[in-house]
Amino acid sequence: TSAHLTIDPHFIVGPVNRRLFGSFVEHLGRCVYDGIYEPGHATADEHGYRGDVIELVRELGVSTIRYPGGNFVSGYRWEDGVGPRDQRPRRLDLAWHSTETNQVGLDEFAVWSKKVGSELMYAVNLGTRGVQEALDVLEYANIRSGTALSDRRVANGAPEPHDIRMWCLGNEMDGPWQLGHGTARDYAELASKTARAMRQVDPDLELVVCGSSGAQMPTFGTWERVVLEETYDDIDFISCHAYYEPHEGDYDSFLASAVNMDRFIDSVVATADHVKAVRGSDKSINISFDEWNVWYQSRYNEVDRITSVDDWPVAPRLLEDSYSVVDAVVFGNLLISLIRHSDRVTAASLAQLVNVIAPIMTEPGGPAWRQTTFFPFAVTSRLARGVSLELKLDCPTYDTGSYGQVPVVDAVATFDEESGETSVFLVNRSMDEHVAIDIDVRMLGDVSLSEVRSLHDEDMHAANTLQDPDRVRLRGNDTARLRDGTVALSLPPVSWTALTLV
Ligand code: AHR
Repeated sequence: TSAHLTIDPHFIVGPVNRRLFGSFVEHLGRCVYDGIYEPGHATADEHGYRGDVIELVRELGVSTIRYPGGNFVSGYRWEDGVGPRDQRPRRLDLAWHSTETNQVGLDEFAVWSKKVGSELMYAVNLGTRGVQEALDVLEYANIRSGTALSDRRVANGAPEPHDIRMWCLGNEMDGPWQLGHGTARDYAELASKTARAMRQVDPDLELVVCGSSGAQMPTFGTWERVVLEETYDDIDFISCHAYYEPHEGDYDSFLASAVNMDRFIDSVVATADHVKAVRGSDKSINISFDEWNVWYQSRYNEVDRITSVDDWPVAPRLLEDSYSVVDAVVFGNLLISLIRHSDRVTAASLAQLVNVIAPIMTEPGGPAWRQTTFFPFAVTSRLARGVSLELKLDCPTYDTGSYGQVPVVDAVATFDEESGETSVFLVNRSMDEHVAIDIDVRMLGDVSLSEVRSLHDEDMHAANTLQDPDRVRLRGNDTARLRDGTVALSLPPVSWTALTLV
């Protein structure tokens, strides 16, 4: 099979915002406890944060980190997590049927975020709470001092404001599983009131209103329209969430998951622009794709879910998916989709970061290691700079049960004027065929190949585990040649590749 790609740095989609490479830490399972925080661990610092995890998070290249949920936030009282640790209450976490010890809260997480070099993005509880509590946590976090709540933060050992810029107005409020779920209209009224109140404190906050928990939701489309009609002038982003897994062994469709993400994004942009047109507004609403990943959700529902009224474990092993090579190829393709839409997707959060559907895994008292998905994220975050480019791609298609005919290859490129670097990210979705691709780079001028790396394995189900943490790594792709303005290379079946020209 062969394919042809043309790159022209003049065809700009939009700037690649660093916030596209965000992630998400929820109080869920072992993400916080035994994940980022394990005071007894050999690598723990003076705050109890695992040093090995901090190093891996830095290597991953994570920009923004959404916190503290997720479904968790819709029953959360932020005050429980601040002040002297020995006075913090233990609470039922209804979202994950666990006990929340509150040993980590806003102040601790702000310290950790700084250590890993990430921006903290905070979600307020609009499930069981409302305007006042959102104002309270905003005052606690962002006001310098001289008021009851800001002085409380100072007294709790955080003299400087946390200066949180991005705030999520609740989480997945369209989902019937969400505490406090209601109609789009009910949510939109509360979100609008909360947003306006928060802007009375600081008009420059960047506010994210809840879109749908997935394009498969029965209210998808209508939810976005109703919520935006009510909140359009008060917010900056609408959220999208999407998780993918193979259904009944249909890997052809699974490998094309990014087609679904593309359509999802296009639909939300169309809906937002429809509301803009009806209102005659000059302002555009962008997307915060603040939960995306491969997630074997069926396994959670069938095996992991805790329901007994007598069972409220602390930091149980939940959603600890082990990711294979095929998962990482789909994952890399989802990043390609996000970058392709960088004119309107200006923030995104990989859900999640440690242990819970995560690129980084830990064992209590033991090592931390990189899952297969770590690699496409780390490389894309490092290389995708400058602007994203519109490409001309000619390649064969194949048939999928879920999305009809889809291209065998998917690709995106970024161009960074400052460094002169062009990076191309490609996937081969074929289960059995190599693709010989020619990339016409004549419009880039006199360039040479500086880096070509692929994620591929003879066994597409290979994964990194506690027993074999380095089983899957990135490989060089020595088939790549640049001659007369054309890069020729071979993409193995079920593979993800990144190459850089400079
Ligand atoms: O990331 C896991 C869960 O998925 C989040 O808590 C929720 O928002 C979504 O349904």
